Amino acid sequence: MDNTSINSVTNADTVLTGDRPSGCLHLGHYVGSLRNRILLQNKCKCYLLIADVQALSANFDQPEQVKQNVVEVCKDYLAVGIDPTKTTIFIQSMIPELTELTVYAMNLISVARLERNPTVKAELQTKSFADNITSGFLNHPVSQMADITMFKATAIPVGEDQLPLLEVSNEIVRRFNNIYKTDVLKECRGILSDVTRLVGIDGKAKASKSLRNAIMLCEEPKDLKDKVFSMYTDPNHIKVSDPGRVEGNVVFTYLDAFWDDKDEVTDLKKQYEKGGLGDMTLKSMLHNCLSHILEPIREKRASISEKNVYDVLFEGTENARKVASETLRQVKDVIGLVYSD
Ligand code: TRP
Repeated sequence: MDNTSINSVTNADTVLTGDRPSGCLHLGHYVGSLRNRILLQNKCKCYLLIADVQALSANFDQPEQVKQNVVEVCKDYLAVGIDPTKTTIFIQSMIPELTELTVYAMNLISVARLERNPTVKAELQTKSFADNITSGFLNHPVSQMADITMFKATAIPVGEDQLPLLEVSNEIVRRFNNIYKTDVLKECRGILSDVTRLVGIDGKAKASKSLRNAIMLCEEPKDLKDKVFSMYTDPNHIKVSDPGRVEGNVVFTYLDAFWDDKDEVTDLKKQYEKGGLGDMTLKSMLHNCLSHILEPIREKRASISEKNVYDVLFEGTENARKVASETLRQVKDVIGLVYSD
């Protein structure tokens, strides 16, 4: 069995995932991780962390925005079907133990190793630090290691681009366990979704809120329609009877990701390549399919109040903090940082 597939997760695993609260979630998040999280919560213990501390490192001058985004992200979780009685949803900044573990872990990894990390490098290109990279930003992989190991998580559903961060995490864990002769911290593996990257409606880049090429989970019906009908297809497919290209055609990418009957999509592709299948027909099909998925999510989201969200978050955080303080106690114990008279 593929070690990185969702099928490899058993009830002996502990799953932990996290998102930086950067606003409402979109269909890329849905296929890339939310769908898996919903399945996994029925299989084993699941933690879901809202990484507000991490978000603050790039938005330290906009704390109000980060705070509001915590609420929006949590609303999306509840609306898509993450069940707080099965998944412990919590706020990173409300667990100071995470920061403490991060500091101990920082001793076990070099700055050079962090700078070489492909995930860090890729993200740096999207930021405007110039030569002023903050140590907080560079330290993300270490803080992520603390998030994971604090809950002894073994299976981490992530996008492919995040796998190098898990390598850093495991490297620190091995050093820690080796130096302090312990097995308190656990190594983890990444769990990849079948669709790890959903392209945006423009076909140019990964779907992202900031590029405005994503379909949001809370998209209004009219905007959903506009977005689907403006999707990039094959610019040379002008008449219905023309043969069309499937590769790079965003409508097909989305049908692959969302249409349940895969054989039907295969037939549509054949027909499209031969000629005789119009973009409008395909876009209508996709629009129906996405409306079907998004309508209930939007309705549920509208019924969730800010008070509901905070109730869920405070309870989840309280439970998570109990686990965190026990792990931190074990960590300090093996390091030998226990003082008593
Ligand atoms: N780095 C993740 C992101 O960019 C968020 C995150 C923080 C995370 N801690 C984590 C993901 C631990 C998985 C495990 O959104």
